[in-house]
This record gives sequence, structure tokens and C-alpha cells, in this order.
Amino acid sequence: MKVTAINGSPHAKGNTWFALKTAGDVLVREGVDFQIIHVGNKNVHGCISCRQCAKNQDDKCSIRHDELNNFLPLVKDADGIILGAPVYYSGIAGIMKCFLDRLFYVSGANGNWMRHKVGAAVTAVRRSGGSSTLDSLYHYLTISEMIVATSNYWGIIHGQKEEEAAQDAEGIQTMQVLGANMAWLLALKQAAAHIAPPPKATKIATNFIR
Ligand SMILES: Cc1cc2nc3c(=O)[nH]c(=O)nc-3n(C[C@H](O)[C@H](O)[C@H](O)COP(=O)(O)O)c2cc1C
Repeated sequence: MKVTAINGSPHAKGNTWFALKTAGDVLVREGVDFQIIHVGNKNVHGCISCRQCAKNQDDKCSIRHDELNNFLPLVKDADGIILGAPVYYSGIAGIMKCFLDRLFYVSGANGNWMRHKVGAAVTAVRRSGGSSTLDSLYHYLTISEMIVATSNYWGIIHGQKEEEAAQDAEGIQTMQVLGANMAWLLALKQAAAHIAPPPKATKIATNFIR
């Protein structure tokens, strides 16, 4: 079983990374392959709503001048995904938002390869806005029919400067419990591989006009 965690902070070893690594250490102890991909320091363009990914059906975004497409197989091939974002103005930091909009749109338009993966989300925050940011991250997981791993508190770690989250004892435990629950869900999924998932519904998309 493989888990790919997405570090949406510009800092390679900041508080978001620390949260992901803390959960990841437990996953590794439970025998899960774990990697963190760093996207928050990349030049990631926002989705331009061209819907070309739905036409091309090649698991790629049509924007080819940045690095996003290089990361997509690392997510597609994983059994579990952890989204990690620092809180910027009580929301998902901008580069990560751009990355997630395109990642999940490509997946959704190409057969929804996120479906039934185990998903989790964590945020790093100095003081306030962790809950609203976490809610926003959960929106990606829950529209994709993912199996969401949770903890004994919401997945928020506190700190401002890079080393500060290491002092947040409750945050650390939250990440450890998250990692343990995620490993268990992955094991349950593996053990239940003989049980067929429900068939994929043909999506009905309505708006308020028709
Ligand atoms: C542009 C910007 C906006 C921020 N907005 C908030 C905020 O709304 N609430 C808050 O408590 N901290 C805010 N912070 C602080 C970060 O969320 C905090 O330092 C976090 O731990 C950074 O994680 P990182 O080390 O992974 O980058 C902000 C930081 C920046 C740079």
C-alpha cells in the first residue's frame, strides 16, 4: 500500500511538512510506503476552465508549461492521499489551491481515479483559520467518493515559524492518530478487496436553469 502526501507550503520543511511527516512516520511503522511531494514551492498555474482534460482523456492537464502533470502519476498510483496546506487568510494557500483544482478536475474528468482511495487532510496554522481551511480541503475528498481517514481532533497543527509545530503536543498526537487510522483503513480495504465496490453512477449534473 502506498500513500502520497502533498505538501502545499512553500517551505520544504515547515509546519505542514512536519504534520505530514508525523502522520507518515506512523504509516511507515505500519508497513505503508510513504512519500511527500512538494508542490507549494512550484510555479503552478490556476485552472483555466478549458475542459480540455475531459476531451483528451489522457490523465493530463492541458496546461503544459508548468510541473503539475509530472506529479499526477504519483497521486494516481497511490492507495491513499494526504492533502497538507498552510492556512493563508483562513483558507488554502494559493499555490496548493491551484494544484488541487487542477488535480481533482483532471481526475474527475478522466474516470475519477480518486474514487475509493483513502484520503486525509491536514493544515498548519499560527492561530486561526485551521477549521475553515480543513473544510475546504475536505471538499476535494468528499466530492470524489474517497474514504476519509480522521483523528481524535481535526487535522490542525499550530505554529508560525518552521520549527514551532514540534512544540504542539496535541497537534502531534492528532497527526499520529490520523496516520494510525489511515493505515488501518488501508489494511481494511486490502482485506476486503474481494468485495466489489458499488457501481459508479452516471453523473447527473444540473444547475438552477434546467
Ligand atoms: C500569506 C500568509 C497568510 C497567513 N494567514 C494566516 C491566517 O489566516 N491565520 C493564521 O493563523 N496564520 C496565518 N498565516 C501563518 C501560517 O499559516 C503559519 O505560519 C503556518 O504554520 C505556515 O505553515 P508552513 O510552515 O508549512 O509554511 C499566514 C501566513 C502567510 C505567509
